[in-house]
Amino acid sequence: MATGHSIDFDIFDPDFVRDPYPVYDRLRAETPVMHTERWGGQWIPTRYADIEAITRDTDHFSSITVSVVGPKPGEGPLLIGPPATLDPPIHGEVRRLLLPAFSVAAIKEVEPLTRTIVRELIADLAARADGRVDAATDFAQHVPVRVIAAMLGIPVALEATFTDWVDRILKVGADQPEVLNTAAREVRAYFAGLVDERRADPGPPDDLITYLIGARIDGAPLDRKYIIGILFVLLLAGIDTTWSSIGSSLWHLATHPEDRERLLAEPELLPTAIEELLRLYSPATMARIVREDTEIDGVPVFAGQRVLLPFPSANRDPEVFDRPHEAVLDREINRHSAFGLGIHRCLGSNLARMELRVALEEWLVAFPSFGLDPDLPVTWTGGQIRSAKTLPLVVGR
Ligand code: HEM
Repeated sequence: MATGHSIDFDIFDPDFVRDPYPVYDRLRAETPVMHTERWGGQWIPTRYADIEAITRDTDHFSSITVSVVGPKPGEGPLLIGPPATLDPPIHGEVRRLLLPAFSVAAIKEVEPLTRTIVRELIADLAARADGRVDAATDFAQHVPVRVIAAMLGIPVALEATFTDWVDRILKVGADQPEVLNTAAREVRAYFAGLVDERRADPGPPDDLITYLIGARIDGAPLDRKYIIGILFVLLLAGIDTTWSSIGSSLWHLATHPEDRERLLAEPELLPTAIEELLRLYSPATMARIVREDTEIDGVPVFAGQRVLLPFPSANRDPEVFDRPHEAVLDREINRHSAFGLGIHRCLGSNLARMELRVALEEWLVAFPSFGLDPDLPVTWTGGQIRSAKTLPLVVGR
């Protein structure tokens, strides 16, 4: 039901989560700046140009909360994760501090470890006699957790706890605030203990927590709360986004054998193919809070309202991308926004790209042929991050 800009739209609707793209196409064509009353009210612009303009207008659109649902300022506790939830000018100072740890050169150092993690997971799958694997739960969901745990110097034995936190905060917690708050408290308590431990007994210089403890802004050390918040956001921002991209890419290759064959025949296409898969299956929708009354493409929006940034819609906008729904594996110009746009553009993009490349390289070597398991369903979760929850495949060699 639509009146003017108002549409009864639910970002968690299971049909939408399963296949959001036709809905975004219709909205982009018919109501490119829409409002729904669901989840405390959300403005949803769907065109690339409007989404980009909002990400660049930090005077009118604040990152104080970037959650697509949950409390707005003044309504309850907000998830704090610097630099994602900071506005200028402090945002730039915290971001600058983190950049060296995620530079291309720093991430190159993490590649051998990532390859070992990926190969171990694949070896377990290859040992299965019946060739039936779940590429989401047995593979994609493990890679980024193990990599970030290693980067933070956290024992891999805690992987299940980390995954459970991410699940409770970003999935279950999306519409159950008490679950989210309990999990967020547990994460903060865990990282607080870790920061105190490293302060007493510093790790090697490349240990991220030790680095943050020694870091200075204007000569002053970082507040303990800030360090804990940064660790919190690294955990949340890096895990299910990356596992989503690995899972969606494998889903695409399982359902588009011609693309799989082409990548096997022309492995040099992997870098452009990865950008294309990131564009097509961008996992993240972020949010902003209107700081002062303004407009989006002529539609008035008011201070305190929430605006979503559905990058998955921007990335299929026909005004920007030729053949927007197709995987053009050698697409030359690809200004996709899977990693966001503007000052908050993903800090972990080098890490994410490396993990995705290593995962696909090793997967294609081990399993040059694979397809969906005809007996089991693929299931998706959505909201802030859309990802394959289960991805049952039959793999061959
Ligand atoms: C395919 C995987 C990933 C995707 C699609 C993705 C997507 C995004 C997006 C869309 C933003 C912009 C947020 C906004 O505008 O509010 C963002 C920011 C961010 N991402 Fe990622 N991300 C991925 C992986 C990672 C990884 C592996 C890390 C690090 C461990 C990471 C850390 C961050 C941080 C810290 C920010 C906030 C940057 C800032 O505010 O300056 N991300 N990411």
